[in-house]
Amino acid sequence: MLGNGVRTLDTVGLDQLPSATMIRPAHEFPDALDEHRPKGAQLEEILEGLVVGLGPGGRLPSERQLAERYGVARMTVRGAVESLITGGLLYRSHGQGTFVAQPRIVQSEALTSFTEDMRRRGLKAGAVPLGREVVPASPLLSGPLQITVGAPVVRIERIRTADSEPIATEVAQLPLERFPGLDVFDLSDTSLYDALRREWGVEVHHADQRVQAVVLRSEEAELLRVEAGQAAFEFVRLTFDASGVPIEHVRSLYRSDRYQVRTHLHRSVFSAEVAAGE
Ligand code: GLP
Repeated sequence: MLGNGVRTLDTVGLDQLPSATMIRPAHEFPDALDEHRPKGAQLEEILEGLVVGLGPGGRLPSERQLAERYGVARMTVRGAVESLITGGLLYRSHGQGTFVAQPRIVQSEALTSFTEDMRRRGLKAGAVPLGREVVPASPLLSGPLQITVGAPVVRIERIRTADSEPIATEVAQLPLERFPGLDVFDLSDTSLYDALRREWGVEVHHADQRVQAVVLRSEEAELLRVEAGQAAFEFVRLTFDASGVPIEHVRSLYRSDRYQVRTHLHRSVFSAEVAAGE
């Protein structure tokens, strides 16, 4: 272990990794590759074992070390590393090396707030205000929010953080008439849903949400401190109170390298009938 807490194979040695933390004990790392199987695939398996053994933040041995150890070209190692980077298991830090990525934060199917999602993962949720204004409801927004065109809407822009790391940007729009004073309410490091409950007695009840993949524009990437052109999840959520009245319209951009959406699928009677050709 290095002084800064980064574990590397320089210090622990490829075959002395702590076996208790690994799927496969360290001694099962092959000394040589099987010549009957593609080298790249075998290297990916070895790297996956290292990912588990090193844990989040652990530093991978260099491409040169791995190439020498397994007698393959550096390009072959690079291909395997790239494949795990694409899969989100590793990330590269310029000039520092390749590291095991943090596990992604999972959004469940429950109607949760950002604060609740982070808390469940043991992370501290934060909110950095970017801007707030009262704007007249556009025709596109007035329909979903069920308010008249031109009615005042509070537009709140925030960066959402987990342990101070930017994870998402959010633009929330809520009818001012329903939430008087929201245009001046301090939302830094505050849960909007908690505030709606505490200050206005409104509980979020259900929501319609769609998600799609987008590529971050440079200003969005800068706010999230990632490379422009990185993929992100775009969520658009329309949230309702218990009486079915819409209370917020939110567009969020979540970093795809730190976030994951999990769905729980049930086979419906309809799909079973289609499969049976009925
Ligand atoms: C998520 C949702 C938003 C919602 C927010 C509330 O991020 N995508 O639609 O406004 O949670 O979170 P909080 O109560 O932490 O402000």
